[in-house]
Amino acid sequence: MNRLRLGVIGAGAWGRNHVRTVAGLADAELAAVCDLDAKVRERVGRQHPSAHVTADVADLLSRVDAVVVASPAGTHATLALQCIEAGKPCLVEKPFALSVHDAEAVARAAAARRVPVLAGHLLLFHPAVERLRALVQGGELGRIYYLYGLRVNLGQVRADENALWSFGPHDVSVALYLLGEAPVRVAAHGRSYLQPKVEDVVFLTMEFGSGVLAHVQLSWLDPHKERKLTVVGAQKMVVFDDMEAREKLRIYDKGVDRPPEYRSYGEALSIREGDIFIPRIPNVEPLAAELGHFARVARGVEPPRANAEDGVRVVRVLDAATRSLATGGAPVSP
Ligand SMILES: NC(=O)c1ccc[n+]([C@@H]2O[C@H](COP(=O)([O-])OP(=O)(O)OC[C@H]3O[C@@H](n4cnc5c(N)ncnc54)[C@H](O)[C@@H]3O)[C@@H](O)[C@H]2O)c1
Repeated sequence: MNRLRLGVIGAGAWGRNHVRTVAGLADAELAAVCDLDAKVRERVGRQHPSAHVTADVADLLSRVDAVVVASPAGTHATLALQCIEAGKPCLVEKPFALSVHDAEAVARAAAARRVPVLAGHLLLFHPAVERLRALVQGGELGRIYYLYGLRVNLGQVRADENALWSFGPHDVSVALYLLGEAPVRVAAHGRSYLQPKVEDVVFLTMEFGSGVLAHVQLSWLDPHKERKLTVVGAQKMVVFDDMEAREKLRIYDKGVDRPPEYRSYGEALSIREGDIFIPRIPNVEPLAAELGHFARVARGVEPPRANAEDGVRVVRVLDAATRSLATGGAPVSP
């Protein structure tokens, strides 16, 4: 099998991780890197002498089979369309696009040209999230009541995206992936403290048609670094704590039971405090799993775990949340 020639557009703070990880893939090679910044190109050239380094996207496209787009958010849709036009499968970093219009344009082009597109929803490749999805979809938690996520830390303060667009794609993509549905109503409150019109903190609420309620707290202005998701089901509850080095998932056999014969009496509710189970989660780096999957997507042997339509779905939620933010938190339909 020929080695797949992968290219990376944008090798900055995050894109450099793509560059390093692609270079380490078993059946693909880092064929080219494109970045507008001469200092970045110099660094990449030094670290990866066998890769072609360029400032020209067309030059990169002529040398690769598939592309990772890891440039700033505002460039994602234009660059994805360029890749699709050239017939090159692409992984588009989050946020997939900055408007529903742009995201839909990418999805339409991908469908028309039959070019596979992977939305860079990294957490779908986290082994704890894969396990969590199996628990939710397999029914082990019982009916899902609600979930809430916490994604807060101090820095990196961005000027081109607010906390919603910077962090939100992670939690929104995970919520949609776990539940297998998109929200019917979204509301968001937020405040800009450090820069005008760039919210540093956003509280996002999503209501799903199934009755599930989800809440996400996003901030880069917080004393703690927290990456936590709690899912409360009728039978069991689960906490995914990504700051834990090893015990990332805890499954609580806890709940409130209602014996059938006392259906209408609140006093008959009994609290169940069962065991706590900590499953062994394989130690897989999500980025390596995502890029390994992307290489198989590009070869046509696997369908994208999150395709362009999934990218659009997440952007729709972020767009609805933005409209809600502008009205001071009124509920909005995505
Ligand atoms: N999946 C994740 O967990 C994760 C984490 C961090 C960042 N990101 C995303 O990755 C993207 C990049 O973030 P970053 O922190 O690396 O930003 P960055 O500003 O540090 O790097 C962006 C790089 O892209 C280059 N660039 C800009 N426009 C370009 C163009 N048109 N063509 C080629 N190169 C161009 C810049 O010179 C820079 O080197 C953002 O969309 C961000 O949201 C994802």
